[in-house]
Amino acid sequence: MADKKTSGNSSGRGARDLRVKVKSARGRKLSSTRWLERQLNDPYVKRAKAEGYRGRAAFKILELDDKFRFLVPGARVVDLGCAPGGWCQVAVKRVNALGEKSGKKIGTVLGVDLQEVEPIAGAQTHQLDFMSDDADEKVKEWLGGEADVVMSDMAAASSGHKQTDHLRIIALCEAAAYLAFDVLTPGGTFVAKVLAGGAEGDLQKLLKQKFEKVVNMKPPASRSDSSEKFVVATGFRG
Ligand SMILES: C[S@@+](CC[C@H](N)C(=O)[O-])C[C@H]1O[C@@H](n2cnc3c(N)ncnc32)[C@H](O)[C@@H]1O
Repeated sequence: MADKKTSGNSSGRGARDLRVKVKSARGRKLSSTRWLERQLNDPYVKRAKAEGYRGRAAFKILELDDKFRFLVPGARVVDLGCAPGGWCQVAVKRVNALGEKSGKKIGTVLGVDLQEVEPIAGAQTHQLDFMSDDADEKVKEWLGGEADVVMSDMAAASSGHKQTDHLRIIALCEAAAYLAFDVLTPGGTFVAKVLAGGAEGDLQKLLKQKFEKVVNMKPPASRSDSSEKFVVATGFRG
């Protein structure tokens, strides 16, 4: 990368500012330059690389699970909108899908995404538009039984219009919730990404009828300038 430099700061306090600055370049939009600069300076991006995760999103599900403990050995997990695969990688480890934790139950992970997913050891993945007519039936067929966890990080490509993006993500989230109502075992957990924006109230109402507890959380790995948050519904009533 020709136009990247690390800025040093000799303020006398002994601390060095190691923030990577990216110079603007002809042909690259300012928004792309900012995105690149943010990626290069994001500690979660660095951690993802160091720990072998396919993206910084992995830390969101790790932090949600650290709090709510739904990815337990033996759990059967459905991951909607799973590409490139960070959440699946976390789930495979935590539910012991590869049988690496001896003496612990072995779980399963099924991931689907609009995009093709590079194979993930321990997970079964399929390319599927979850909003297509027979998507639910296909997922149920691949799952071949009940699930303990349905999680969705699905997000449609940004339209640039905040309210449109919000409505789209709520539609994805509702579709994920209806699959969860169909396949979750009693006591199961539903986790989904939503964007704060007003229309999520109906979804919350619906979830409160079906689950013992419904909580919203913004994990530390979720960027503070993003309106995303996660709804975690535990104790499916069946
Ligand atoms: C933020 S990414 C998910 C990141 C993922 N959790 C991870 O850890 O790698 C959102 C994903 O939702 C997927 N998606 C959006 N709409 C979808 C749909 N209708 N059906 C299936 N996947 C969808 C996108 O293709 C994208 O890969």
